[in-house]
Amino acid sequence: MINEYRPGLEDVIAAQTRLSRVDGEAGTLLLAGYPVETLAPRATFEEVVFLMWNLCLPSVAELAELKRDLSSARDLPAPTLALLRAAAERGAPMMDALRMAAASLSLTIVDEPAATPKVTLRRDARRLVASLPTVVATYARLRQGLTPVAPHPDLGHAANFLHMLEGEPPEAHRARALETYLATVVDHGMNASTFTARVVLSTQSDLISAVVAAIGALKGPLHGGAPGPALATVFEIGRKDRAEAVLRAKLERGERLMGFGHRVYKVRDPRAEVLRSAAARFYAEGDQRELYELACHVENVALGLLAEAKPGRRLETNVEYYTALVLHGVGLESELFTSVFAMGRVAGWTAHCLEQAANGRLLRPRAAYIGEEGRAWEELVER
Ligand code: ACO
Repeated sequence: MINEYRPGLEDVIAAQTRLSRVDGEAGTLLLAGYPVETLAPRATFEEVVFLMWNLCLPSVAELAELKRDLSSARDLPAPTLALLRAAAERGAPMMDALRMAAASLSLTIVDEPAATPKVTLRRDARRLVASLPTVVATYARLRQGLTPVAPHPDLGHAANFLHMLEGEPPEAHRARALETYLATVVDHGMNASTFTARVVLSTQSDLISAVVAAIGALKGPLHGGAPGPALATVFEIGRKDRAEAVLRAKLERGERLMGFGHRVYKVRDPRAEVLRSAAARFYAEGDQRELYELACHVENVALGLLAEAKPGRRLETNVEYYTALVLHGVGLESELFTSVFAMGRVAGWTAHCLEQAANGRLLRPRAAYIGEEGRAWEELVER
């Protein structure tokens, strides 16, 4: 029996998976066997979803079928729309709206006849992957006082999201950059939100509950909430010659530099490189080129200061740093960044839940009790 307490469950193996392999020392990430740098710049998001759910790339016919299935599941039920309107009136943050709306997706399926657990899981997985972009785009428009835009049945997953957000089909290179991002973050071993989803599913609960819980875990700044603050830091710095002073002051105040450090990677996160390359292509021309160069400079200064401030901690750039730059380049507001991360990761969450349902056991670790013992009851009047 393992009795050792590992704070934060660090290095504890809680599941077996065929979905992704993270090697924190080599700085590599395999997605169902494919290196992330091979897959992410080439695959459509639908191909990546198929890969996650089936562990192989789709044939032409399989891809066409999945595209049809996802496209036909994009509409939101009327009560979900009403809920988003109410949330927008109260100014709820994007991730809270996403969590509430995801929970309400159960309303699309209450009237459907009972199916086998496997069929039900796959149906709910399609519903979740297809609907999350509609929720995010709809809520973003409602927050701006705009009318929601209906999904476009002929556009792919990423292009349709931008269409719903902006009201017109996007240029191909923006849809491609978003697709690269979504594929890059689709899965990442036993990260906090995926673990959360697997714990919920392991009790034989339903997939909507598992994904709602995962959204809650993703929201925190130590997990999916970092790219907004990472970009804010680059904007705050503004000029290359200010980088060192601003970052040093943050570290002296005990703040963490967002977009740096990782529980598993002790070298540069390979996803950071995929997204840096995507950002480099994206910002190659135009007036934003300076922003890309500033971000690269800030990264170098931050790495130097982190090595000085936390020697031996091996704090390197993580995925969130260049996420911010790619998503900003695509034209997304930083309030949307974490919810767009959820749009990619939901394919991984649902795939892990399928895997958990097929092979897993109830996830139930133990706690080491460090409280008092043998206390005597005291009557209320005597306390
Ligand atoms: N800036 C400054 N110091 C840092 C940073 C950082 N970005 N990251 C870690 N440290 C320091 C900690 O203060 C701690 O120092 P101490 O031991 O002297 O107190 C030491 O490094 C170890 O940090 P832990 O929090 O124990 O390491 P953990 O493995 O739990 O943290 C985490 C990983 C949460 C990602 C952390 O590096 C961090 O907070 N980074 C900034 C937030 C961020 O970028 N999150 C996105 C992660 S990627 C993702 O989830 C998709």
